[in-house]
This record gives sequence, structure tokens and C-alpha cells, in this order.
Amino acid sequence: MEKAAKSQSKGDKKSAKETKSSKAAPGPDKNLQSFEEELNRREVSLIEREIKTIRMQEELDRLRPLSGLYRVVKAMATERRLDSLLDTITRETQTMLKADRCSVFVVDSNVDELWTQVAQGLEGFRMIRIPLGGTSIVAWCARSGDIINIPDAYQDDRFDPDVDKHTGYRTRSVLCVPMLNRSGQVIGVFQVLNKKDGPFTSEDEDWLEGLAAVASGLIEQAQAYQEIERFVDQTLMVLAQTIDKRDPLTAGHSVRVTNYSLLIGQSLIIPDEDIDVLRYSAMMHDYGKIGVPEAILWKNGRLTPEEYEKVQEHARVTFDLLSHLPFTKRLSDVPFVASCHHEKLDGTGYYRGLKGEDIPFLARIIAVADVFDALTSVRHYRNRMPIDKVYEILQQGRDNHFDSRCVDAFLRLPCHQVLGIMESEREKNASDDIDLFGNITWSRLTELVAGAQAKREEEGLVKVFEKMYNFGLPEGYKALD
Ligand SMILES: [Fe+2]
Repeated sequence: MEKAAKSQSKGDKKSAKETKSSKAAPGPDKNLQSFEEELNRREVSLIEREIKTIRMQEELDRLRPLSGLYRVVKAMATERRLDSLLDTITRETQTMLKADRCSVFVVDSNVDELWTQVAQGLEGFRMIRIPLGGTSIVAWCARSGDIINIPDAYQDDRFDPDVDKHTGYRTRSVLCVPMLNRSGQVIGVFQVLNKKDGPFTSEDEDWLEGLAAVASGLIEQAQAYQEIERFVDQTLMVLAQTIDKRDPLTAGHSVRVTNYSLLIGQSLIIPDEDIDVLRYSAMMHDYGKIGVPEAILWKNGRLTPEEYEKVQEHARVTFDLLSHLPFTKRLSDVPFVASCHHEKLDGTGYYRGLKGEDIPFLARIIAVADVFDALTSVRHYRNRMPIDKVYEILQQGRDNHFDSRCVDAFLRLPCHQVLGIMESEREKNASDDIDLFGNITWSRLTELVAGAQAKREEEGLVKVFEKMYNFGLPEGYKALD
């Protein structure tokens, strides 16, 4: 056992010796060599990684315009609003061209100016207007129709440093591309400023030319659409006025009912897409009166039951006539809404005798506006109704004739807005007096007229109102009872 232990100990010594001698065998040179090799290997790997990063960066730079273009095309396919589309285009252009700012200027040929439809970085200066005949680079670009690429603005005579003074910005490089319509006329200028790494290149010019063509196409389309909308708007207004003008004393009824309805609709925060339906329905609500003989419309005194029936027909005629107009899908409810303005919540209205929720909400708004205007207008057979009585009629009609939400919304309207519409067709310009009513609601005015105690700031308002309300009334006319 002892012998075995000794022999083991000898073996350990030997193996330790062998290990020591095998480590030392390559010597210091060989160690250094392997260290160098390791270092080289790592260096090569690092360089390879660096090259890969550079290549990826180059690939990214190459793809950046393409991915920007993809987002622009995607926006065009999904977005219809011009402002939002132009925002996308300018934002993507900024990234694609590595520019600091982008602006889209549009020519306003009425005043020979260019104005900023989009201007990045101009908080507080939301719109810049530049004379078309002026000395700025943008105006120069619009006049000449040429691309202007300036590496250093302050070294170029065409640059006006006053613009920088005005905005507090420091312009360095400028690239301006004219925007042309289909006839080749300049309708605007696409401007990018301050490229981040050096001046704008000819490749940037090509990209911006393409993007400017997209922007100008969108602007031209939007302008054409606005022209059509204006035409439709004016045409419907003229049609509505032809009815109002048949009787000089109802002149302005359709426009006033439209404006009251819009005030009520806005205060009830109805959806944007309903506002135009409300506008056109209110404007055209009495169009069917074209079928009512003037002898009845102008009759001084009570109508016979047959005559009353003839008048009531106007709601049906409104529907029939408007149904022949090719309203767009967005406005397709106009004939129905317009023809429901005499319906009552309890079903006793005409011409369909609809009840409650079956009456379109927009028509319930018009019903309040229509009755209010009828009672507060001067008619050939009667005077304006005292406004506390009008208030009573609206209140009594709650939930049987009128939707109480619409009545409440009307009564809460700022008084000066109601008066502004009410007095809009009158001979006397009452705008100064109307401004005095800026701090009270319509219902507060009726309370004051009915004898409520005036607060200090309300003193004298009733007198001013009554003078305005009763101004120029035909002599001998009786108040409606
Ligand atoms: Fe009517």
C-alpha cells in the first residue's frame, strides 16, 4: 500500500514535469504568432462587419426614396382629404431628400400671390403669402417654370434674406420645382430647404419633379372639386331664393332657416358628413312651394281647408322635385330630410305623418328653425310675434311637435348669433347693436323680455332689442296672436 502510494507520487511528479515542458515547448515566438493571428482574424471580422454595415446603409439610402414613394402611393389610395395628402407628401419628401423643411406654395391668380398650402416648421406663421411678381426664389420659379437648385442661398442674388428675418430660419440650400397643371400652366411651387449632407443633387431634382407632379395633380383635382361644390351650393341657393322671392315678405326665409339649422346642428356636434345634408335640406325645404298658387301664398287672412291642403302639398312636392336631382351618395338623404320638416314627433305632422325616431334627426332640427323663423319674420298678413310668445310655442311643442334636444340647443344659442341671422335681411344695419348681446343666450334674452331682473351687464339690453326687433314694421300691422 505504502509502495503503491510512493509510486503514485512519482507518477504525479512526472506528469507535472511533462505538462510544464509541453507548455513551454512552442516558446515565446510561437505565442506571439498565434496572438497576431487571432488579432488579424478579429480585425478582418470587424472590417467585414463594417463593410456589411456600409452596404446596408447604402441599400437603405437606395431604398429610402422607394419606401417613401410607396407610402405616398398608399396615402393616395386611402386618403381623400387634400391637406392630409399633402402633409404625407411633404413629410416623405423631407425624408427622401434628407431636407430640413418642405413647403408647397399654390398660385392664387385672383390676387397674383403664392400662398403656403403646406409649410413645415411654421408654427405661428401658418401661412406665408408671396407676391407672384416679387423677388423671392419661389416667385422666380413660378414665373419661369424652371427648376431652381441653389447650393448656398446667401451667395445667390435671387434669394431674399428678409424671409429668414421674418421667420427666424437660416436658409442654406434651396431646391424649387414648379408644379404644372394638365395644360402646362404653373399652379404652384414645391420647395425643399437645407439638405442635411451637402447641396441638393440632380437625382434630388428628379425625385422632387415627380413628387411635385403628384402634388399638383392632387391640388388641381381638389380645386376642380371645390369649383363643382361651389356651383352646386350657389345653384341650390338660387333655386331656394326663387321660392322666397315670390313673396317679398318671406325673402330670406330659406337662407335664415339654413343658418339657424347649422347653428343648432353645430351646437349638437352632429357628424361632419351630416352638416352638408343639413345645409342643403334646410336650403331646399320649401322648394315644393313652387307648386302653390300665389293667390294662396299671398292670401291676407285665414286659409280655407282646401287652400290649407294645397299649402301642405308643398312638402310632398319638395320630395318629388328634389328626388330628380342627381345628389351624390353623400347627399342622397337631402330629398327625404327636406320633405320631413313639417313632421311632428307625435305623428300629427305632414305629409307622411311620421312619428318619433322615424323622422330624421336633421329634419327635427330644421323643424325648430323653420317655426322660429316663421314666427319671428314679418309676413304680409301679420307682424313679428313677441319673442316671449315664440319661446312659449317652442316649449309647448317639446316632445309632441319638436325634439326637445333641438329646442334646448336652440335656446342655448348665443343671442348675438341668432340676432345676426334674424336681422340679416333687414334694411337697417344693426351689427353694432347685435354685438351688445355677445354674452347672453337666446333663452336669457326671452327671460329678460318677459320681465326677469337684469344683471348689471344686462341692463338696457331689452330696450335695444325691442327697438331693433320692431324697427321698420309696416304701419297698422297687428302682432300675431
Ligand atoms: Fe314648409
